[in-house]
Amino acid sequence: MPKHDGTPKFPDSYLGNNSLDYDSSIWMERNQKKTTLLCSQYLYDEKLDELEKPNFLKDESFFILDLGCGTGFSTEILLECGFRVVGVDILHDMLSKVKTKKDHMKNQNHLELLLADINYLPLRSSSINHAISISAYNFITHRAKSIRDKTKIANNTAKYLYKLLKPDGRIIIEFYPKNDHELEMFTSSFNNNGFNGFFVKQNPNQKSGQTFLLLKKR
Ligand SMILES: C[S@@+](CC[C@H](N)C(=O)[O-])C[C@H]1O[C@@H](n2cnc3c(N)ncnc32)[C@H](O)[C@@H]1O
Repeated sequence: MPKHDGTPKFPDSYLGNNSLDYDSSIWMERNQKKTTLLCSQYLYDEKLDELEKPNFLKDESFFILDLGCGTGFSTEILLECGFRVVGVDILHDMLSKVKTKKDHMKNQNHLELLLADINYLPLRSSSINHAISISAYNFITHRAKSIRDKTKIANNTAKYLYKLLKPDGRIIIEFYPKNDHELEMFTSSFNNNGFNGFFVKQNPNQKSGQTFLLLKKR
């Protein structure tokens, strides 16, 4: 997979043979699944306030968005947790791999797939309970030429996600902003548009360190 400054370059890292390499990487699968489990715990983090966990047997329309679902490693874990999942990805090369694996996934009939851009999701207002995004959200600004453009895209996307979520909606994002300034820009885009939240850096001094945004709708 071609790397740029040590991180994947969008979209080249996910097209054609690179999407195959991505999907067949055992390291990637393990990493994405482990991170998704952690994000599913962060959804109910007490620092965001107490929130009762859903009873999936009673609440049959409890939907979670998997933003930038790639080839479905994160999606598979969310299905196993009991969520109804809407997996969204902008690249057919990646999304098509989820379709081929879907039949082997637990609760496969609880999965909808959308070939769409996180910035323009064709979904009804107040139709989604929560959203997660693993290793994808930093790409939403990849076309922006200036910091001003990036900020505008991040703000518009946060506003849009706010509308999609039901009351008590939460978003957990694991991503790799380029630097602290970009992390601050993404965090503010949510805090300025209807969310309370904060970031968590795990093992910040290690190469494998991860950054998470924990957000709840005000
Ligand atoms: C690291 S990969 C996928 C990770 C995924 N969580 C998994 O388990 O495979 C990042 C994905 O984000 C997608 N992506 C990037 N920008 C996007 C956007 N604006 N809208 C939707 N998906 C996007 C890419 O196509 C790519 O499949």
